Amino acid sequence: MLETRQVAKETFITKFSSPTIARAMAPGQFVMVSFPGSMDPLLPRAYSVCDADGEWLSLLYFRVGKGTTRLSQVRTGETVTMNGPLGRGFPQFRPRENVWCLVGGSGAAVAPILDRESRKEKAALRLFYGARTADQIVDFGIERTDYSTDDGSKGYHGTVVEMVKHEVAETKPDRILACGPMAMLKQVCDEFMAVVPTFISVETPMACGNGLCQGCPVKMANSNDYMLACKDGPVFEAASLDLGQWGVSR
Ligand SMILES: Cc1cc2nc3c(=O)[nH]c(=O)nc-3n(C[C@H](O)[C@H](O)[C@H](O)COP(=O)(O)OP(=O)(O)OC[C@H]3O[C@@H](n4cnc5c(N)ncnc54)[C@H](O)[C@@H]3O)c2cc1C
Ligand code: FES
Repeated sequence: MLETRQVAKETFITKFSSPTIARAMAPGQFVMVSFPGSMDPLLPRAYSVCDADGEWLSLLYFRVGKGTTRLSQVRTGETVTMNGPLGRGFPQFRPRENVWCLVGGSGAAVAPILDRESRKEKAALRLFYGARTADQIVDFGIERTDYSTDDGSKGYHGTVVEMVKHEVAETKPDRILACGPMAMLKQVCDEFMAVVPTFISVETPMACGNGLCQGCPVKMANSNDYMLACKDGPVFEAASLDLGQWGVSR
């Protein structure tokens, strides 16, 4: 571990030296983290990679339970066990395309690595960042960012999806990407997948992260087939999923 910074209320970014994972990482992929010599927590926890560049990678997390509390206590120089990069991330950026990225809660973790990758590929990324209150917002320094808060303490007063709904009525991006709590992803699918190709990252609870436990099934559209969120996702094109499992009607 290189450093941990508190970046918002109960929110931390921890940076690790890990050239092997950092060099292979694509936006939307994740790592499973556990603590050597410790059975507490028993299962590793999944984290999207927040940013990575050559030698290092960083994770952003809300301190909510055992895994994230332990992660926030790791000391500089201490080693954690990290398995990754895992899963399939967001589709590659294409030069000059306009991509809108909606993030909420700890789903904001994917914003810095998406921003870095979009600049590399000369695509135009616009970030729409929703949180409950202003004190939960992390300033990533990403130029084209619009904020929304549930209590109106920063930016648009309402959900990030309501904010983007007004924008989509005026102009449409080439693609929408979304990462956040399930309630937000349901709204994203309801509002946008019929009008713009939409890709969502699903944070289904995961025990193994590599297809062994079969514990993270996601139902596919127009069939009885299931995919695994950890292996076939966590990023899926919204249109490929049977969203009925989350109460979304087509
Ligand atoms: C593919 C994938 C990527 C993920 N990426 C991230 C990430 O980048 N950053 C991150 O913080 N988490 C991420 N998660 C969730 C993460 O794996 C943990 O579940 C979460 O951080 C809580 O772990 P914990 O051990 O601290 O809490 P636990 O002890 O497992 O849970 C304690 C309590 O907190 C609640 N809780 C869990 N998550 C949240 C939350 N985000 N906000 C509020 N309450 C919560 C639980 O329901 C439970 O009641 C990801 C999950 C998946 C599947
Ligand atoms: S988490 Fe074990 S199969 Fe997906």
